Amino acid sequence: MEKTKDVVAGLGEIGMPILKLISKTVSAIGYDVNQQLMNKKQFDKYASIDTCLLHICIPLTKNFISIVLSLYRKFKPKCIVIHSTISPGTTHVIQSKLPIPIIFSATRGVRKRMLFDLKRYTKFYSIEPSAHQAKWASSLYSKMMNKCGVKTRKMSNPLTLELAKIVCDTSYYGWLITYAQISNMIAIKNKVNYDEMWSFADEIHKYLGNRPKMFPGFIGGRCVIPNLELIKDDTLNLIKEINLDYAKILKKRQTRGKKH
Ligand SMILES: NC(=O)c1ccc[n+]([C@@H]2O[C@H](COP(=O)([O-])OP(=O)(O)OC[C@H]3O[C@@H](n4cnc5c(N)ncnc54)[C@H](O)[C@@H]3O)[C@@H](O)[C@H]2O)c1
Repeated sequence: MEKTKDVVAGLGEIGMPILKLISKTVSAIGYDVNQQLMNKKQFDKYASIDTCLLHICIPLTKNFISIVLSLYRKFKPKCIVIHSTISPGTTHVIQSKLPIPIIFSATRGVRKRMLFDLKRYTKFYSIEPSAHQAKWASSLYSKMMNKCGVKTRKMSNPLTLELAKIVCDTSYYGWLITYAQISNMIAIKNKVNYDEMWSFADEIHKYLGNRPKMFPGFIGGRCVIPNLELIKDDTLNLIKEINLDYAKILKKRQTRGKKH
């Protein structure tokens, strides 16, 4: 069998665990603009071997598409898998510019236990049905991930999955916290206890599963708020606006030395 390697580009919170994960079943090397994160010896050893899959794990920036194109020219892979969170339509644009199949495979998980979460969650993926060698790429990727102990599930088109990652994962989480913030602002205004007020929903949630009580904290982190930029939806953007208003209220209360 022809010997090939995979390349993981971007060795951060998701790239490094993905490199660890796939290294168990394929020859794989990591590449990063920060060379200190790379194993140079390993990289040089495999440099001349053909690249099968190029795994994109870099953050979305305005240059994302041109970076992916330049990584394509650098490694000449047979297929690209994008694990990063991207704005809806990005896979389609990249696919229209390259002759190889482009897979979008959204990542779920929490950074402090990413390797565990990579194995725990089914790795959804999708590829434009019209892409050259779409079936071959789909089967290659899913078999490779299955060998690594990761279940896979294919969606009918990348746009559905690009939207799902933001609308049904990070923004939905943000939306629930936003409701907690709104309800806490009401509790504060009326000088009632937040937990006592929410205890009314406990049993309903227990029986129906549709009244989750969220912690009314400030939304920080690197996913919920930044991902709103990728979808640019005015209604979802309320998450960001209410979060900022809420921060002001928390700050005011802090300076007054009150607890909520
Ligand atoms: N961290 C998470 O929990 C998580 C979860 C799901 C999805 N994601 C998504 O995964 C993507 C990556 O996130 P992350 O948290 O791993 O980011 P990170 O900042 O931890 O790591 C990104 C790495 O990419 C490198 N990089 C940047 N530009 C590069 C280039 N042109 N070539 C090679 N390397 C380059 C950086 O040096 C850095 O090491 C993002 O789209 C993010 O939204 C992250």
